Amino acid sequence: MRPKVTVPAVRSSKRGRASPALVMLTAYDTPGARIADAAGVDMILVGDSLANNVLGLADTLQVDIGVMAHHVAAVGRASTRALVIGDMPWLSYHVSVEDTIRNAATLVRAGAQAVKLEGGRARVPMIEALLATEIPVMGHLGLTPQSVNAMGGYKVQAKDADAADELVEDAMAIAAAGCFAMVLEGVPDVVAARVTAEVDVPTIGIGAGAGCDGQVLVFHDLLGLGVGPVPKFVRRYADLASLAVEAVSTWADDVRSGAFPSDAETYHLPAEPGPGGH
Ligand code: KIV
Repeated sequence: MRPKVTVPAVRSSKRGRASPALVMLTAYDTPGARIADAAGVDMILVGDSLANNVLGLADTLQVDIGVMAHHVAAVGRASTRALVIGDMPWLSYHVSVEDTIRNAATLVRAGAQAVKLEGGRARVPMIEALLATEIPVMGHLGLTPQSVNAMGGYKVQAKDADAADELVEDAMAIAAAGCFAMVLEGVPDVVAARVTAEVDVPTIGIGAGAGCDGQVLVFHDLLGLGVGPVPKFVRRYADLASLAVEAVSTWADDVRSGAFPSDAETYHLPAEPGPGGH
């Protein structure tokens, strides 16, 4: 079996240093984590996108640390090789350093080996405080979904030269503060490639082109388990929702026609002893 993926192993996996691209997938429960781990992904992110993908909520602002910890625990129990990263939900790392440390520790005690948080230079004090308590931190820049209201929607970020310069500054600041890797979401490919060249920790792209050190996708998007249209950066590798609907409707037909359960799927009383005790 391949060894457990560690934070130092991820940190040293810049593609330019002949490492293969890093692979990260979200998972939110034990079956999902088992699938991701068995498929050999390097990192499992228990993303706050669980709000939209699993809980039917409008946006990621709707989940708190208790909900995240519940799902981190389910994933942590199933992941044998992949590094498990717990997403810090909105408001769990904005109020005070103490609050941030306690919330991150909740995710670690639930089963995460690292945490992820959104934002640039403004987050440096929190990142430094977490590292001082031995909690590794992954950054997240660009289209940061917890800023949906401030951004005025889910829009590609860093599209002009000034915004691209700001993004590079943010990336350099959180790398210098000690993030072991960072997600770059929803930014033009040239900007992501520029950040990747500027920082000495791996960049993990989602909607950020092929120039990053790794890629992340959402479990439900990759497997076709979601509803509605997906963003252009998603490649669907399966249509499991259709397969599942077909399987459930076949079972429903069998129940209604009496074809389920069969005799072999039924418990029986022990056979009556025959005459003479046989
Ligand atoms: O919550 C999430 O799923 C994420 C990924 C999109 C990076 O943050």
